[in-house]
Amino acid sequence: MLQIGNIQLPDFPLLLAPMEDVSDPPFRVVCKRNGADLVFTEFISSEGLIRDAIRCRRKLDIYDEERPTGIQLFGGDEERLAMAAKIVDVTQPELLDINFGCPVKGIVAQGAGAGVLRDVDLMVRLTEACVKSTNLPVTVKTRLGWDDASKNIEEVAERLQDVGIKALTIHGRTRCQLYKGEADWSLIAKVKNNPRIHIPVFGNGDINSPQKALEYKNRYGVDGIMIGRAVIGYPWLFREIRHYLDTGELLPAPTVVERVDVCKQQLQKSLQWKGPVAGIYSMRGHYLRYLKGLPGIKEFRTALMTHTEPEAILAVLDDILVRYEGYVMERTPIEMVNYHENCPL
Ligand SMILES: Cc1cc2nc3c(=O)[nH]c(=O)nc-3n(C[C@H](O)[C@H](O)[C@H](O)COP(=O)(O)O)c2cc1C
Repeated sequence: MLQIGNIQLPDFPLLLAPMEDVSDPPFRVVCKRNGADLVFTEFISSEGLIRDAIRCRRKLDIYDEERPTGIQLFGGDEERLAMAAKIVDVTQPELLDINFGCPVKGIVAQGAGAGVLRDVDLMVRLTEACVKSTNLPVTVKTRLGWDDASKNIEEVAERLQDVGIKALTIHGRTRCQLYKGEADWSLIAKVKNNPRIHIPVFGNGDINSPQKALEYKNRYGVDGIMIGRAVIGYPWLFREIRHYLDTGELLPAPTVVERVDVCKQQLQKSLQWKGPVAGIYSMRGHYLRYLKGLPGIKEFRTALMTHTEPEAILAVLDDILVRYEGYVMERTPIEMVNYHENCPL
């Protein structure tokens, strides 16, 4: 077992990454059902939360079945972050995570996200303020450093542990790398192997297959891994990794029935959580990703993207089941999208 504060997790837990516009409660439920051990919300602005923006408040919703869940906050002002942490405390997630990794210009400019990697003293003060204002275990997610010349994660890890964080997740890139190049896990391993560090250290970046998960587990010795892009459209990766770690065997690719089932489950949760209009719209990006690889699936695209009634969409999904009955899906490599390709630095 692995412990974060009072939360018990299995050995080598698999974490769903916080992802804006992706890691909402319906998606988190789907990931949990398919093997995620700990899930995180999208990042939430501490300012927005304090001003009670409806969108931010809704991001605090948690389904019981997805727990344990970490709520992720960002903010560059100690008092405001601490105040937001108090609001989060009331909603009782299992833990509170601080985002010190977001590279997006607008966030960095507020002195939040990866911006604080240039000011470790501020990072420490922000973290300490959070730890003191909540009873929840506080964790941090960050990157290796600001740029190649200033990879300060080893110092950051020690100092954040000293002010009371209970776990650290490290994305193996710098802020200036955005998603360029390959994630470098060797520094993550150095943090993990530092005898001063006793909190769990989770590795993050580029995991997209059971084989890579096992290879990185063995090579870098981290306490668990966090997965982001690869599970968008492929939540089954969690169970595939767990099975491979346990048995050394690859599970067969999910069947058409399982894929359609995930579409239906997420649709049902989206309707429940977002209501009839937003629930339908927010699912539109998901269907074809879940059904990717089925020859001719694009024929169903228009129907899935235009129907506005749940019954009509469910009928299309049932048609897909009939059309592809008995079709055996092949396992194909999961492509990694570079989400920040056109982001200004
Ligand atoms: C669409 C998208 C949204 C993201 N939003 C957040 C976020 O809200 N908070 C955060 O800490 N990281 C966010 N990230 C970064 C991921 O959590 C993760 O660190 C990164 O994608 C690297 O992991 P991966 O290679 O497994 O995708 C986001 C990534 C993507 C692709």
